[in-house]
Amino acid sequence: GFLPKFSMKWESPLMPKDWFEWHDLYNTEPKLQQRLEIVREYISYSLDVSPPGIIRVVSVCAGDGRDLLSTLANHPRAKDVYARLVELNPQLVERGRATIESLGLAKQIEFINGDATLWSNYVGAVPADVVIVCGIFGNLADEAELSRLLGNLSFLSKQGAFAIWTRGHSNGIPYSETVRKILRESRFEEVNFKLTATGDMGVGIHRYLGENLAVPKEQQLFVFSGVPNKAR
Ligand SMILES: C[S@@+](CC[C@H](N)C(=O)[O-])C[C@H]1O[C@@H](n2cnc3c(N)ncnc32)[C@H](O)[C@@H]1O
Repeated sequence: GFLPKFSMKWESPLMPKDWFEWHDLYNTEPKLQQRLEIVREYISYSLDVSPPGIIRVVSVCAGDGRDLLSTLANHPRAKDVYARLVELNPQLVERGRATIESLGLAKQIEFINGDATLWSNYVGAVPADVVIVCGIFGNLADEAELSRLLGNLSFLSKQGAFAIWTRGHSNGIPYSETVRKILRESRFEEVNFKLTATGDMGVGIHRYLGENLAVPKEQQLFVFSGVPNKAR
């Protein structure tokens, strides 16, 4: 039969079965590698321009935290950073915690194995100076859900906080343009925006102009509805 010949496809990281396997795509996909480089550049920039003293960072749906942790490995402000990363997949959290340990940052960086859509998992770590929301916007149901999430960043962000985000394109649709438009409408000012060299992944850094709001009415800040084998 012809099926066995192609069966490898379904076991390869091209069709990741979970979010842990999805991270293997970083080893092979230029789009993701280029995206990571730009995210690291923006994180580095946000630390560079932060005033002296503590810099609070939160990472929403952090994966294994490689964007923030690899930047801190080699940044002069690393010792000023107090961060909380929130991620649901226990294997990714385990890998992230091992990296934190090896960098000697365990006293400052918390990796929570929990639901990043819930307000309670940010209490004590916010309002933040830098909010990392990478790999999320393509996993929301629609534009209304994106607006809801951006509105709820008011509970995570100080006034003037940086939000660093990514949004992939598919079928020739430049979804990152929609994100930039909704950010403008949600009181965010664009600091920088780049497309990867592959041309199909937008990476942005925006500044939150509104005020920090202390407590949301609802526990749930957004719904993450994406699945790993269709991830953008
Ligand atoms: C596309 S990946 C992005 C990971 C990381 N931010 C990055 O850019 O490499 C999406 C991540 O969201 C995580 N995730 C999905 N739903 C979540 C939830 N409710 N709470 C926390 N993490 C969640 C997945 O386990 C996965 O690691």
